[in-house]
Amino acid sequence: AKIKQVEFVKSSGRAKDCPKDDRPEFAILGRSNVGKSSLINSLVRKKEVALTSKKPGKTQLINHFLVNKSWYMVDLPGYGFAKASEAARMDWSSFTKGYFLNRNTLVAVLLLVDASVPPQKIDLDCANWLGRNNIPLTFVFTKCDKMKGGKGKRPDENVRDFQELIRENYEQHFPPWIMTSSVSGFGRDELLLHMSQLRNY
Ligand code: GTP
Ligand code: MG
Repeated sequence: AKIKQVEFVKSSGRAKDCPKDDRPEFAILGRSNVGKSSLINSLVRKKEVALTSKKPGKTQLINHFLVNKSWYMVDLPGYGFAKASEAARMDWSSFTKGYFLNRNTLVAVLLLVDASVPPQKIDLDCANWLGRNNIPLTFVFTKCDKMKGGKGKRPDENVRDFQELIRENYEQHFPPWIMTSSVSGFGRDELLLHMSQLRNY
């Protein structure tokens, strides 16, 4: 399951500009600022393979990374960025939806959900859209290192609330889910093992 090598391949503005789909691929999806690029860096144990930022909206294109010269990890622009223009938001949905529906080698979408905040409607909508379109999905909860005191709920409580809201849509086929932190590395090995099992090697 170990990552020995990673190289950036290309950034694409449209689904049809992506590298040829000739190897297994995982798409990293989630709200702006949820930690998609950070998760990639954590998995490959490099600081800035994927560019990250405190400000949402950092990743604007479909970025392909080739891992161990054999499979792709794909960093996608985030959704739900409130400051993005209406046009940019429309654009997001058409170009990333086109990617999901047409990418034959997609092994699974890793849908990242921030465990440090309560369930967000946009994440539930996204999970339901993927489910309706039969796109294989794994939930990856991020920022599990952020312990809230006082009024805020703990990450495990937010995760449980999220699962309860989504469960009725999946019934017995509830997607796998993994709790992670890119800061501490928590969940990294579990996620890498899960991804290698999905690839069958
Ligand atoms: P966009 O490219 O804008 O869609 O965002 P992104 O999902 O790629 O988020 P990014 O990885 O750039 O991280 C956003 C912010 O969250 C950065 O300030 C990160 O340092 C922080 N962050 C990411 N993962 C974690 C985590 O596991 N724990 C904590 N505490 N902070 C994190
Ligand atoms: Mg990013």
